[in-house]
Amino acid sequence: MKKMFLFILIGSALFAQNKTYTQRADSVLALMTLEEKVGQLVQYSGDWATGAAQGRPSETSDELLKKGKIGSFLNVVSSEKTMKLQKIAVEQSRLKIPLIFGLDVIHGYFSTFPVPIGEASSWNPTLIEKSARMQAIEASSAGIHWTFNPMVDIARDPRWGRIMEGSGEDPYLGSLMAAARVRGYQGKDLSANNTILACVKHYAAYGGAEGGRDYNTVDLSERNLREFYLLPYKAAVEAGAGSLMASFNEIGGVPSSASKFLMTDILRGEWKSDAFVVSDWNSIGELIPHGVAKDRMKAAELGIKATVDMDMETSAYFYHLAELVKEGKVDIKLVDDAVRRVLIAKFKLGLFDDPYKYCNVEREKKTIKSKEIVDATREVAQETLVLLKNEKNILPLSKSLKSIALIGPLVKSKDNPLGGWSALGDSNDVVSVYEGLTQKLGKNVKINYAEGCTILGKNKSGFATAVKAAKASEVVVVFVGEHRGMSGEANSRATLDLPGVQEDLVKELKKTGKPVVVVLMNGRPLTIPWLQENVNAIIEAWYPGISAGIVIADALFGDLNPNGKLTVTFPRYVGQVPIYYNYKNTGRPHDPTNHYTSYYMDLENSPLYPFGYGLSYTTFEYSAPTLSKTNIKKDESLTVTVEVKNTGKFEGKEVVQLYIRDLVGSVTRPVKELKDFAKISLKPGETKKVEFTITPEKFKFYDINLKHVVEPGDFKVFVGTNSVDVKEASFTVVE
Ligand code: NOJ
Repeated sequence: MKKMFLFILIGSALFAQNKTYTQRADSVLALMTLEEKVGQLVQYSGDWATGAAQGRPSETSDELLKKGKIGSFLNVVSSEKTMKLQKIAVEQSRLKIPLIFGLDVIHGYFSTFPVPIGEASSWNPTLIEKSARMQAIEASSAGIHWTFNPMVDIARDPRWGRIMEGSGEDPYLGSLMAAARVRGYQGKDLSANNTILACVKHYAAYGGAEGGRDYNTVDLSERNLREFYLLPYKAAVEAGAGSLMASFNEIGGVPSSASKFLMTDILRGEWKSDAFVVSDWNSIGELIPHGVAKDRMKAAELGIKATVDMDMETSAYFYHLAELVKEGKVDIKLVDDAVRRVLIAKFKLGLFDDPYKYCNVEREKKTIKSKEIVDATREVAQETLVLLKNEKNILPLSKSLKSIALIGPLVKSKDNPLGGWSALGDSNDVVSVYEGLTQKLGKNVKINYAEGCTILGKNKSGFATAVKAAKASEVVVVFVGEHRGMSGEANSRATLDLPGVQEDLVKELKKTGKPVVVVLMNGRPLTIPWLQENVNAIIEAWYPGISAGIVIADALFGDLNPNGKLTVTFPRYVGQVPIYYNYKNTGRPHDPTNHYTSYYMDLENSPLYPFGYGLSYTTFEYSAPTLSKTNIKKDESLTVTVEVKNTGKFEGKEVVQLYIRDLVGSVTRPVKELKDFAKISLKPGETKKVEFTITPEKFKFYDINLKHVVEPGDFKVFVGTNSVDVKEASFTVVE
């Protein structure tokens, strides 16, 4: 009878469509016991039948679900499995509150898209939104409600393996990509059954790890934090992201999972977000080794007081939160606020209306690897390849070649093109480079294949066969790079060279005197000055996903004109990192005539490839930028116009980039800041006019008092094909 009463109560609360999400969440909250509230804040990975994983409760997950002690699972996949657990939660627990299932859908669920750093190289937010949309459609059909993406951490240090998961080093570009991904995952209506909740991570500044070593300490000034690192999180929140993930790192002595500054002051206070925050895996428990909590109980107290709402895997909330409330150490209001935020997300997803809406085996079968999604992996990959070098236009190769050598450990690999975080991605679905090229070339071209060497290891015994294959061919294409497990979480490197003996292999091939083209697959900028100096052409392919072989073959033979641009700076040598384009001038910018200036004695300062860099099979000519005015008031906008002409023989896409520099401020300003860009397509001989509007918002910065203002003064504006090759103009902002 009591059960029946509760059900009716919830029912009437939940189906009152005119109530706001908050009111609806509150109507549920009012019915909950303290233990049930805590349950909503507990997340575990996978379901389990018997025995406790380390630190987990000894009861089975089914028993805990019946008691309402778990609010969310991660890493449970398929509509069948999620359905089974959801049924227990909504049919056997007292309050019937649905579970929310999360998964790392980073660049695809089954159908694998290019890795995020590759996607970002497209400089095409519309395409990135489409990628996220497709990922959501596929994942949602398999019971997934929530992806732990977008990863929006600014990264200036390629030693950090997670640079692969983000959009690179720039806050403006990163913000656009972050918002695009949120829109793609969440769609227009989060309650539709093919949209999923986004989770912006890793909040905050996880990419600032000292020495590029994952999980390491971050120490940033508040200015640096606000000016660079925080912007993409903010953009994602403004785009409506329903959740965020607290990062593992500390900033200035405070780990994020205990940071009231990040969570309460900035996220809830300044950004006015009601998104819920989930910890990273055991990041609440890690407050102990961080040295800010002496035990798990204290860790739970710090976490909830910082408003980290959901505890992923630590069991700190599970074991201690209720006790902390009962002992008066934690105000119940903090718990209520956290539960409300989690419930609001569940309401927004429509789970209270239909908890099984994502669990439809038929839909799952039809959707997984559907043509629409697989086609999209290819469409996206077409914009992610970056042409780094093309001496004497050796590329594209002629289709009338009689022979070609395909050499390297990545030629036949069906696993590596998937990239670092491919969820359920299956190497059988990957079109390898070998398959792509044999399909394209048919029987007319003789393919001489040799692996040459493995990615890792020192064995050169395969070199001789590779050299023989090269000698027997008109042109040599070498596929080298990193193993896909070398980037991503915990995969930091102290060197950035091509691993193993791969560069030695290329050196041997070069000695044959044949033209050598290198195609790279890797998850981070590599130090490849020898390649740049010595081979004829280089394509950075990142990890293109399941359509790898198709797009790479298309690019090599001119059915696709590469149009990606780097969103991360490539250093010449690892000693240059952190290296990024929007650096400060210093009081002693390098002057070759003066020793006492800022430079390396043994290496030039400039990178191998700058931010924004990427060639095309065609050439583009830029006019000088013209400005609508050269004097503007603080609240006025200005337009910058430039004409871009395709002066080559191929149709091509170009990313026209606009940077500004504020010459004198109350605090120092970067030498260049990306403020706008446009990706345009031009036929041979065609000219297009590109117009950018610089609004006052784009001149603003955090002044000496950390106020976000426009300061009058002189500015430079630069327009060009990358952050270095630009044409400039000047203007002045007056009071
Ligand atoms: C740890 C990673 O840092 C985070 O990115 C991921 O979402 C969680 N594990 C869950 O898998």
